[in-house]
Parts: sequence; C-alpha cells; structure tokens
Amino acid sequence: MLTGRDILTTKQFSIKELDLILKTATRFEQALKEKRVLNNLDGCIVASLFFEASTRTRLSFEAAALRLSGRVISMPEAAVSSLAKGESIADTAKTVDGYADVIVIRHAQKGSAQTAADYAAHPVINGGDGSGQHPTQALLDLYTIFKETGDVSGLTITLLGDLKNGRTVHSLSYLMAKYGNRMIFASPSSLAMPAEITAELKSLGGDVSETSDVDEALAESDIVYVTRIQRERFEDPAEYERLKGSYVIDMKTVARAKKGIKILHPLPRVDEIATEVDAYEGATYFRQAHNSIPTRMALLALVTGRA
Ligand code: CP
Repeated sequence: MLTGRDILTTKQFSIKELDLILKTATRFEQALKEKRVLNNLDGCIVASLFFEASTRTRLSFEAAALRLSGRVISMPEAAVSSLAKGESIADTAKTVDGYADVIVIRHAQKGSAQTAADYAAHPVINGGDGSGQHPTQALLDLYTIFKETGDVSGLTITLLGDLKNGRTVHSLSYLMAKYGNRMIFASPSSLAMPAEITAELKSLGGDVSETSDVDEALAESDIVYVTRIQRERFEDPAEYERLKGSYVIDMKTVARAKKGIKILHPLPRVDEIATEVDAYEGATYFRQAHNSIPTRMALLALVTGRA
C-alpha cells in the first residue's frame, strides 16, 4: 500500500494507511522486545541528509534502519555538503538517489522534501522542512497516543505553544482531524496556528477551536501536546525574548487539568515543561521519543516494500 511512496505530509494518508503504519509499528515493537534479529532492509541503503539540527529524528531513523539490517550513509550538516558550494536541493537529490534506496531529508526550507522527491526516484521521507511539516513525528505521536490511551479517536487534544512555526503541530493536526478528534489551539496570539491550516482543517470537518485560557482548555483535554517556541524561525531575536517563557506546564498546571491528562512534547524541551513534571505518570514525552524507533522502522520497511 505504501511501497515506493514518498512521505512528505500527513495530509497524504488515508485512515487505512495510517492503521497499517500503526499495526506495522506494533509488530516491530514486539519483535524488538523479543530481541529478534530483523533482516527487512538487508541490502538496502538509507541516506540520512540532515541539513538542520536534529538529535531524535536523525538518530532514530538511523537506528531504525540498523535495527532492520539496513545500512546508512549520512550527511550530518550542510556545511560539509556541496550545498555549501551552492548546489541545489534538486541536484543533491538527483545525485543521492543513485547512492541509496531511501532518502530521509531535513532542511530549513519549507517545501525542501517535496523538491527532493520531485528529483529522486526512490522514496523520500520528510524529516522536517522548515516550518512546514514533520510527518514522521506526527506518526510517532499518533502511535504514542494509541499506546497511551488505547485509542486514536474520540479524544480532546490541546495543542499548546508555537503553533505558527511548529511543524510538528501542523502535521499532527491533520491526523487528529482525520480521526475525528476535538482540537483546542492555545498559543501566544502572535504564534497562532496559520489561518490557512485552521481553515483547511475545518473544511475537512475538523472540530477546531482557539483559546488563550490554557487552564480551561486543559480541564477538558485528554491530551496536551506542548511545543517549544521555535527560536530558530524568528527574524527578530527581541521578539523571541519577549515571548519566551509565556507558558509553562508545571505540577500546579497538571493539578488543575483533567485527571489523567497525557502530556506529549516532540522535544527538544527548553523551559515550557518544568522538569518536576517528568515524574508524573502522564508525562509521556520520553516514551514518545522512544516510540520513534518502531514507527520509523515501519515507515522504512513499508516504503521499501519490505514490511
Ligand atoms: N522531535 C524532533 O524532531 O527532534 P529533533 O529535532 O531532535 O530531531
């Protein structure tokens, strides 16, 4: 169903495909628990092109490939690639396409993964394109929600933080809408969800509202998905300084929230979740980060037709 496909945006998936990804990730997670040796990517090379900072996405994609007995070639930073000499993403993609069976790319430019996909015959996976999308993060978020709540629908989720620049929330909101969940957007007013995304979600039947009252939103929410303010997307450093620290989840916030609320965060965290919250059983963000391995194993295996 996903063989040979690029993964560029969460808008591309049908419910049937999402269910297949969840099922495949569950199967791989069980295999990892049983310490089984998996050979799904035997003979395959995954190109890992990260032209923007990353810890989780890069390392978990590379670990996922290795767990499936694939091999990895990597480009850790733009400064050591020929992009620094002025080479285009298109030419880079055309070239690397001849070296690998799958290309994972992160780049600061919105639309960069789509450009790479336009020029590469092998599947291209978007590891984050500027303030655009981060679909594989949203898929591991979906897998986390499934594992933590036992469901992916009928939930109320507050998306809190930098909704303007946060590619993870852009991607996740489309998945939440597809499964008919209720979404509450909470952000500083200058960092609200882009109007075109909100309008598109509504046109798809999404149940979306916006609020500035975080406590009220969390009192009704099964999940709060927190994001940091994306400092690297600000043109004016003074504006970042003005906004930083404008929301913090601490144990007082948790006490006022719906009982049992799950707290997700794509990480990295700066100061928007107090470290005291880490001991709360509903704090899922480190489990969430670890769910990236079976989810990304599933994606690599599915796009190469080796699941
Ligand atoms: N969540 C996420 O994308 O983390 P990294 O930036 O560390 O890859």
